[in-house]
Order: sequence, then C-alpha cells, then structure tokens
Amino acid sequence: MSDQNIVFVGLWASAKSLKELSVRRGFLVVENGKISKKGTSNEFETLKKSGSFSKFKIVHLNDSQFIMPGFVDCHTHAPQFPNIGLGLDRPLLEWLAKYTFPLESRYGDLEFASSVYDKVVQRLITNGTTTACYFGSLHLDGTLELAKSAIKHRQRALIGKVSMNLENDAGYYNDTAKEVHEVEDFVKKILEFKNELIQPVVTPRFAVSCDLELLASLADIAKRYDCRIQSHISENLSEIDYVLQQFPSCKSYGDVYDKSNILNNKCIMAHAVYLTDDEIKLLSTRGVSVAHCPASNTRLKSGLCPVRKYLDSDITVGLGTDVAGGDNATILDAMRRSMDVSTHLELKGNENYSLDWTAAFYLATLGGAKALGLDSKIGSLDEGKDFDALLIDVYANNSAIDNHETYGSAGDRDLGLLQRFVYLGDDRNIVQVYVKGNKIKDIL
Ligand code: GUN
Ligand code: FE
Repeated sequence: MSDQNIVFVGLWASAKSLKELSVRRGFLVVENGKISKKGTSNEFETLKKSGSFSKFKIVHLNDSQFIMPGFVDCHTHAPQFPNIGLGLDRPLLEWLAKYTFPLESRYGDLEFASSVYDKVVQRLITNGTTTACYFGSLHLDGTLELAKSAIKHRQRALIGKVSMNLENDAGYYNDTAKEVHEVEDFVKKILEFKNELIQPVVTPRFAVSCDLELLASLADIAKRYDCRIQSHISENLSEIDYVLQQFPSCKSYGDVYDKSNILNNKCIMAHAVYLTDDEIKLLSTRGVSVAHCPASNTRLKSGLCPVRKYLDSDITVGLGTDVAGGDNATILDAMRRSMDVSTHLELKGNENYSLDWTAAFYLATLGGAKALGLDSKIGSLDEGKDFDALLIDVYANNSAIDNHETYGSAGDRDLGLLQRFVYLGDDRNIVQVYVKGNKIKDIL
C-alpha cells in the first residue's frame, strides 16, 4: 500500500457545521497526502481531456460508494481494551477500583503493552478512526509502546501518559516529584519521534486521583511544551461529591481545574454530564472542548449528557468511545448513542435537545477535529486539508445492509446512502481508510 496521487470521482460528504452537511457528486484530487482540488463531474471530464490527470490514478466510485472524512475519537483508554464488554456492573469509582486500576497496573510489562496496543490501534483503524486521542497508563515506557503502534500503523494520534498521585487500593499512583519528572520526559520522548501524526497530551486522570500541586505542575508542563491537556470532569454524582469534599477551597469541580490552570483552549474534558450553569460558562469562556462519551455514560449508569446545551453555549464537542467504560470501539456507535441520548433528553421535556444524523456526522468528524485543535488539517474534505478519509461501500460484500434500491418514500438516493451507513453500517462498509493520503486499510 504505497502513497499515491489519486483522483476520486463520485459521491462525497463532508460537514460544514453542526447544521450543514455538503453532499456532492464530482471529483476530489489527492496529491502528496492533501486534498488539492475538488470540482463537478463536468469539470472532471474537461480536465481529464486536457491531460491534467495523466499522472494520477483515477478511481471511479461505484453507485453504492462515497468518500467521507475519517472518524475522530476524542477520548479512549487504550490499556482498558482487554476489559471491553466486561465488568460493567459497578458505578464509576467502584468500577475503577475493581476492574480498571488492576488492569492498567500491568502496563509496566512492555511485551504486554505492545501486544495490546498493536491490536487497539488496528481495531480503531478497521473501524474508520483516523485520529484518536488516547489515554495510556501511568507507565512512561508502556505508553511509548502505544505511540510506536500508532506510528507503525500510520494512525494520527494524541497520546497521554496518565498522571495520578493520590493513593488507591491498587497502589496505582506515583509520588508527585516522580510523576512530574516522568510526564516531562514522556512529552520530550514523543516529540523526539518527530512524527507529524503523533503528539503528546498531558493527562491528569481526574481530580479524584490528582492533588492541586500535581495538577498545577502538569498545567505548567503543557504550557511550556505548548501541548494539549486532557482529563475527566463531572461524569458521575458520587465522583462530584468526592471531589467537592477533597477540595473544600474550590466552589465546583470546574473550579478545581481552573485554580490549577488546566482550563484553556488546548484542554479536552471527557464526559461533563453534570456541569452547572456556572461551569458551562467557565468551560465556554476558557475555550475548553468536551469529549462526549455516550456509551460509557450509559453503561456505567453515569447519566445523560446534555450536549445540546453545551453546543448552544459555544462549547466545542467531539465524540469519544471511552473504552472500557464504553463497550464499543467505534465512532459509528458513539454517533448512534449521541442521537439516542439526546432524543431521550428531548422526550423527557428538553425542547430541541435531540441531535439528528447530520449533527452526529458533524460531531464524529469536524466537531472532533475542532475539539482536538486539528480542524485546520482534518475533519472535512476541504481543499488544502490532509486526506484523512474513508471510502464507504454501503452495499459491500457481506455488509449488514441490504440493497433495497427503492429508497421508499424517504427520497434522495445520495442522502439515503449516507443515512443507511450512519444508522446501519459497520467496519465491513468501511472498505478503505486513508490518513494523510496513506491507505491504511483496504478490503475493497
Ligand atoms: N474517570 C477517571 N478515570 C476514568 C476512566 O478510566 N474511565 C472513565 N469512564 N472515567 C474515568
Ligand atoms: Fe475516560
């Protein structure tokens, strides 16, 4: 699978905003990993006749195929994948203590780490995730194995070594000085890879696991190295109670992070199920993004996240699978659950809260890219952006979608293809995956 300059001819879809999805037929040129030109089918014929594409491979999509931007997973825990689909019988804090910390403790074993991470990265690529924002474990070298897997399989990735300095039963934490030293070392080592697809993220687990001193030191590292910072906020009611008890000088969960200088426009907070109006204002003012993780919010019975309220408050939102609190490693699943949860909130009396499939498409692509500060590079099929994209075949071999070519009374055929993929599709329909023009999956 080599890098190639390609002209795709056929249907493509790309979000412009939460409300606007572009769906067009025409051509799209990929040159040196970037989208260099787009146009109509007529323009394609003219350019082709004039020889403009003589050095390009021309790919004519068939009538069940389309191109779309790759999925962006704004929040997932790579070391938790061996627990996926298991142990979802406890609420958050008990679940962490009983299942999650004991598993994550094992990633000092580099052989174990590299074998798990290699599968995780490949699984996400199979599922069409071209960019992932990962939590690793507490281990510096273990988490570097995750970076190596992402580099090997050519996925775009933001990678964080998890920081914790407060005691827990699993003994899964570091003392503060060691932790601060290791995080800086980790950031430097990721930067030393000099791989433009990979970046370090400073990753305090959450305020239950970190004191103010550690949080402030981590904010300082993020600032000095100009990198992103990610954590969890207000996921579960017992967690919030615990944090408020632990930090009596802070007026809210958000205030704990704000007092530590964590909140800024390079910060991604997962969950945010129970933000107060003041916290919504705080996150919005500071430019913090939210990673919405509907699967895990439901599976751990954490709550129903009012995404619409955040979007209306100008908070950037992307989607996260949050494995293994989430039981599914695909952004397609996160899209469907974001539609479901928002609809349930609307059914409970919150007017206009529901997100439709085009809004979910936006959150899964451009919204996620914005949340990770990558929207000048990826997230949509605009000229000048890197070609991080999926070739979808709605009626691929062995697909779960049957070809009822009539499209009933639901109308437009092209929109119908997109909807069927969003509602019914899976990895069998994701026949090719590209990151920066490199083909990293091909089952066509
Ligand atoms: N809060 C702190 N750590 C975690 C984690 O690993 N998963 C989830 N869902 N929430 C967390
Ligand atoms: Fe999480």
